[in-house]
Amino acid sequence: MRKPRPIHTVIEPFRIKSIEPIRMTTRDEREQHIRDSGYNVFLLNARDVLIDLLTDSGTGAMSAEQWAGVMRGDESYAGSESYYRFKAAVQDIFGFRNVIPTHQGRAAERILFSTVCRPGDVIPNNTHFDTTRANIEFTGAEARDLPCAEGVDLATPGPFKGNIDLAALERLLEDPPGRIPLAMITVTNNSGGGQPVSMANIRAASELCRAHGVPFYIDACRFAENSYFIQQREEGYGDTPLIDIAREMFSYADGATMSAKKDGMANIGGFLATNDDELAAQERDLLILTEGFPTYGGLAGRDLDAVAVGLYEALEPDYQKYRIASTAYLGEHISAAGVPIVQPPGGHAVYIDAAAMCPHIPTLEFPGISLAIELYREAGIRSVEIGSVMFGSTDPETGEPVAARNELVRLAIPRRVYTQSHIDYVVEAILNVYDRREAMRGYRITYEPAFLRHFTTRFEPL
Ligand code: F0G
Repeated sequence: MRKPRPIHTVIEPFRIKSIEPIRMTTRDEREQHIRDSGYNVFLLNARDVLIDLLTDSGTGAMSAEQWAGVMRGDESYAGSESYYRFKAAVQDIFGFRNVIPTHQGRAAERILFSTVCRPGDVIPNNTHFDTTRANIEFTGAEARDLPCAEGVDLATPGPFKGNIDLAALERLLEDPPGRIPLAMITVTNNSGGGQPVSMANIRAASELCRAHGVPFYIDACRFAENSYFIQQREEGYGDTPLIDIAREMFSYADGATMSAKKDGMANIGGFLATNDDELAAQERDLLILTEGFPTYGGLAGRDLDAVAVGLYEALEPDYQKYRIASTAYLGEHISAAGVPIVQPPGGHAVYIDAAAMCPHIPTLEFPGISLAIELYREAGIRSVEIGSVMFGSTDPETGEPVAARNELVRLAIPRRVYTQSHIDYVVEAILNVYDRREAMRGYRITYEPAFLRHFTTRFEPL
């Protein structure tokens, strides 16, 4: 008899109970749809998209237990059972005394920053997500990115490329150009390629902040993925359960903002948490103004219950093993065929370096937009440009457009939604586009709005 061999295939640790059809389209139909959308994938009708990798935010599949939570939801206006279950889950994992529910992450950001920031203040972060930056800048404060040196080098892999630059943080804390009401670290670092932050980096950043009397916050959206990377990659954590890793991360922080649309495994929700009772009281006053009473904060009781269950599911070891393996699977297959990606693949997404893939397209003719359009044309795949359309600016003196630092296309993987054959299809499509990359052309903007232009800009091919 043959010796039994270990099985190496990482499988989806669930079976499918309820399905949602997706719709094939022809290339001619897609050509028409993308033209009608002004060549902006945000303006496509979702029904015309086959595989939607626009975002991992709010697009996941909920579990049977979460749906059971939805039925348990208590819709009392004040003091609902759902809130107490939500609060207990957040306190158990995150450990903060005050838990303020919000409808999503940016609502927590808006309440936090409009409470603590004044014009001229500076908020450091490894890399601010765009809503975080916008909410800081809206108060007149400055959002300062301090990514570590490895994080800036796209093509060279490293275990913790999401780290904050500790020396730069220290310099800023010693000699700040303005008040620093708090410092932040985003786990995983979304705008920095979905790369994780090490426990050592979080601990050191926290110590620096505490030595300077500056509160330290964590943007916790993908805290469970970050915990898994720490377990897999950081010395001393190999046998530590994910929940204990998460608890340790947050033990170094004075507060957190959270979008439960990511590692809350829910379709909507978020929270703001802090150990500062006085600050929390001010934040609750603001919450009532725009989000709702402090025990629901813009959510239905059923949403609070879905999050209370989801936060624990995100920390299940089999789930994270499959989650990170499936993102890596996509990244490794396209990279092996020569497609330049941010290395290594991130937790929630793979980022293609469109500038490296299409050096013949100038950055201000938007190689990332061109690639996102080509992936849709080829196979009905929706991705998103993270480049000069999203982060480009205008020189205040000359009025000339300024390119972003990188021209990336993000393929974000919704949680528990697509199977391996969906991902195999995506790999094939990307490789087809890659093979004819030299024929790709740039785009020109025909309309752009005043703010957050990536959502509604319209283009035409050059
Ligand atoms: N912080 C990070 C790191 C994020 O990635 C996001 C959202 C937010 C805050 C804001 O949370 O959307 O619930 O208001 N990221 C999504 C994305 C939109 O596609 O990366 P939100």
